[in-house]
Amino acid sequence: MSLPAILISDMPADYAALLVTQFGLAPITAASDWYLCWATDQLVLRHADLPKQGDILVDFASGAASYRRQFGGGKDEAIAKACGLNKKRDLQIVDATAGLGRDALVLASLGARVTLVERNPMVAALLHDGLRRATEAPLTAELAKRMQLCFSPALVALTELPAADVVYLDPMFPPREKSALVKKEMRAFHDVVGSDQDADALLAPALALAKYRVVVKRPGYADVLAQQAPQLQVKGKNNRFDVYINQAIK
Ligand SMILES: C[S@@+](CC[C@H](N)C(=O)[O-])C[C@H]1O[C@@H](n2cnc3c(N)ncnc32)[C@H](O)[C@@H]1O
Repeated sequence: MSLPAILISDMPADYAALLVTQFGLAPITAASDWYLCWATDQLVLRHADLPKQGDILVDFASGAASYRRQFGGGKDEAIAKACGLNKKRDLQIVDATAGLGRDALVLASLGARVTLVERNPMVAALLHDGLRRATEAPLTAELAKRMQLCFSPALVALTELPAADVVYLDPMFPPREKSALVKKEMRAFHDVVGSDQDADALLAPALALAKYRVVVKRPGYADVLAQQAPQLQVKGKNNRFDVYINQAIK
């Protein structure tokens, strides 16, 4: 895992100080390895020696995110069905492994209120910045109101957060493809975040917190989490969603 570094030159000083304090980042003045930096008023993740990698950021407002927001599969999408958003729109969902917030965006776009739990300082800072921009943009301001960041290990958050309707888990899973073929962003993520060795331990506290269900996203080839069989499986295009039911959604 990389040192959670942030290049503070060229950044507004007060914002850099806030991010350093809030996420325990290490301020640096010269690029090295993976680091956060300021690019056209956005916080991005960059690698000093991999210029072709491209910047990684959380962007709830444009490109693919915007398309999904406007035209996404809606409540019939596999993730929506798995979470029960086809039965009740305003669910309170804890996304305990938020990553770059793509799944959280889909859930919030469909009407859920989502708490995004992330323990990696650099990823959490990217989420914070994505939410800041989403709050400031008229197109996404309402959506941003339904998303809240919680910078914490999930094992802590799942015991401290108020009860939720659904807990959503998408821990890192070792990619099956040879490393050269793995998508660039995926490779970056594995470098920065490492593997989630404690993923199995999340299921029990997730089930204790969720009123209705726990949903676990897995690659199609992966074993079930914690060797515990789900009551329901919803197949998506590239993944499946294992659903552990506590109570039916009325
Ligand atoms: C596969 S990514 C999630 C991708 C996310 N679903 C999305 O749509 O962007 C897994 C993320 O969960 C985070 N994570 C894994 N285990 C965690 C834990 N126990 N507590 C908090 N965050 C965790 C990792 O740091 C990583 O950012």
